[in-house]
Amino acid sequence: MDKFKPAITLAFSGASGAPYGLRLLEVLVAMNYQVFVLISSAARVVLDTESNIKLSGNEQKATEQLSTLFSAKPEQIKVFGKDNWFSPVASGSAAPKKMVVCPCSAGSVSAIAMGASDNLLERAADVVIKERGQLILVPRETPFSSIHLENMLKLSQLGVTIMPAAPGFYHQPASIADLVDFMVARILDHLNIEHTLTKRWGYGEQH
Ligand SMILES: Cc1cc2nc3c(=O)[nH]c(=O)nc-3n(C[C@H](O)[C@H](O)[C@H](O)COP(=O)(O)O)c2cc1C
Repeated sequence: MDKFKPAITLAFSGASGAPYGLRLLEVLVAMNYQVFVLISSAARVVLDTESNIKLSGNEQKATEQLSTLFSAKPEQIKVFGKDNWFSPVASGSAAPKKMVVCPCSAGSVSAIAMGASDNLLERAADVVIKERGQLILVPRETPFSSIHLENMLKLSQLGVTIMPAAPGFYHQPASIADLVDFMVARILDHLNIEHTLTKRWGYGEQH
């Protein structure tokens, strides 16, 4: 029997919204998924700015940092460096079929839409698209320019799910954590992963 549930690729790019990605990682680890983590250079700056996490640029050290942070089992979290072309996510023969970029910068949206594959995040997304797996992007920018919108339309038409970091308020959030969980819950829904993070529409208290 496999030690973990099937691996999911979770990529952090340099958009604002590091808490969304961190919470998603925490929940996936708690649910016993193996998670392959990709982190762009800008994402490391954002992680420090928004969540006070100074993540090492060394993939082994970064793996240890995140594993400690989320009490992951050995091998459960694997961070791959941005030039690690020999990692499983770099090839269609080994890459997980599911990948989430959370948060996703306008720059990464553009690079993915163009098939740039210039760093491991972009290559991994390109692989998921070509293998017709499930790619979810969580873009955060405001306002969106026509460039952003055109890139997102192109990706959406290719079957990529565009899920902007735009939490609702109809569940009456009492904290930032509630807003973060709103987004993470919707991402888990799309990954077909059962959870109890939020009440479902129509199943909560009536107002
Ligand atoms: C603190 C911080 C916040 C940022 N927020 C955003 C953002 O919300 N959306 C965005 O598209 N770019 C944002 N950027 C700019 C991107 O990080 C930058 O365009 C970078 O080149 C993206 O590269 P990447 O996609 O490889 O991570 C932010 C940068 C920093 C340092």
